[in-house]
Amino acid sequence: MTHTLNLTGAADLSRTPIDITAVLDHLVCEADAAAATSIGFPGAVDLDHSEVMTRLGRRLWNNIGDPADEGGIAHTRALERAVITWVADLLAMPTDDRWGYVSTGGTEGNLSALHAAHRRDPTARIYYTAAAHYSVAKVVRLLGAHGVLVHARLDGEMDYAHLAEQLHRRRRFPAIVVATAGTTMTEAVDDTSRIRALLDAHHAGGHLHVDAALSGIPLALDGRLRLDDASGIGSIAISGHKFFGTPTPCGIVLIRNHLRATGTPIAYTATADTTITGSRCGLSAALLWHAIAVHGREGHRWRVSEARRLAAYTVEQLNAVGWPAWRHPHAFTVVLPTPPKPVRDKWVLAADGDISHLICMPGITSAQIDAFVADLAAATGPQARPIPRPRPAQATPISAPAH
Ligand SMILES: Cc1ncc(COP(=O)(O)O)c(C=O)c1O
Repeated sequence: MTHTLNLTGAADLSRTPIDITAVLDHLVCEADAAAATSIGFPGAVDLDHSEVMTRLGRRLWNNIGDPADEGGIAHTRALERAVITWVADLLAMPTDDRWGYVSTGGTEGNLSALHAAHRRDPTARIYYTAAAHYSVAKVVRLLGAHGVLVHARLDGEMDYAHLAEQLHRRRRFPAIVVATAGTTMTEAVDDTSRIRALLDAHHAGGHLHVDAALSGIPLALDGRLRLDDASGIGSIAISGHKFFGTPTPCGIVLIRNHLRATGTPIAYTATADTTITGSRCGLSAALLWHAIAVHGREGHRWRVSEARRLAAYTVEQLNAVGWPAWRHPHAFTVVLPTPPKPVRDKWVLAADGDISHLICMPGITSAQIDAFVADLAAATGPQARPIPRPRPAQATPISAPAH
């Protein structure tokens, strides 16, 4: 096998001949070998996408332009529309007030939604917490908008009292608030009803966007995340490669139709320019469509419950060996004190200082968890184990810059 091939040779494309097969085999071998201990990042590994990859993988599938348009190149646009309808239905969005598309990922979804909200209210302040994904701060910078950092509690959820204070201080300005449904480190879910109530009390108006990159589909399947009229939520961004585990990064963005930005008609593409990118990956839309068509709501609900069951088991097993771990009740994510480096590196855990997480995405097995816990127990004698602490719930002392 070619597993030991050094990939630096592949970097120099001027060298001929290049053993292309060896390079590709090497990548596959490395990825296969890493899969058994990759439990730190949120990509599901249980779905088989090979039918789509085999049948469609040899062509360009480009859904350029607005997915609702009939003109122009419409390679997998019909499937994209079906995906948007399925997700919007799941979120109980009003059928006459919804718009969206299959994006490159959660980041583009945040950009698209916040761009639309900011265009409507260019003086709006954009509020987001210290636990929000880094893409939100990046989008604020890209838009040239004023961002306001809101405290997050140690468990990752928004500090609502601090949001209220920050809104009050800037009451002359419209507000756009980013709630997170599944924060990156702890999978905390911000309470959109409380945020909506604070926005309504803030008389300058306000858009509520939900960054639901990881938890959007699981919470919608539970009926716990809705974009109906009562929710007061204007937009949502979801990653496709996380819960659906597509072999190419992608996402879904949905915006209440009356809140979105209208696009310019483009003559040569024969469609409106309403999306962030021009050319768009039609293969992603087909992969999402296939994952939904094969498993349906019930199949995906089962995947969610299995993943949560494994996450609960993981917390139990870690606590049993004296490594204090916790999770939010809905979460796939298990938060734990950062293990010693060899264990962290082997298991590709995401670490942020003294806190790390692993994520029981669908497809991760109890055998993998048992092997991880055994490694951790072997690497840390009883003396080296952290002192058990209750699950954190106080606000973090993160100061917010004033704008
Ligand atoms: C909460 C949250 N938002 C947004 C993103 C970005 O999503 P993507 O990587 O699909 O662009 C992530 C990725 O981990 C995330 O955790």
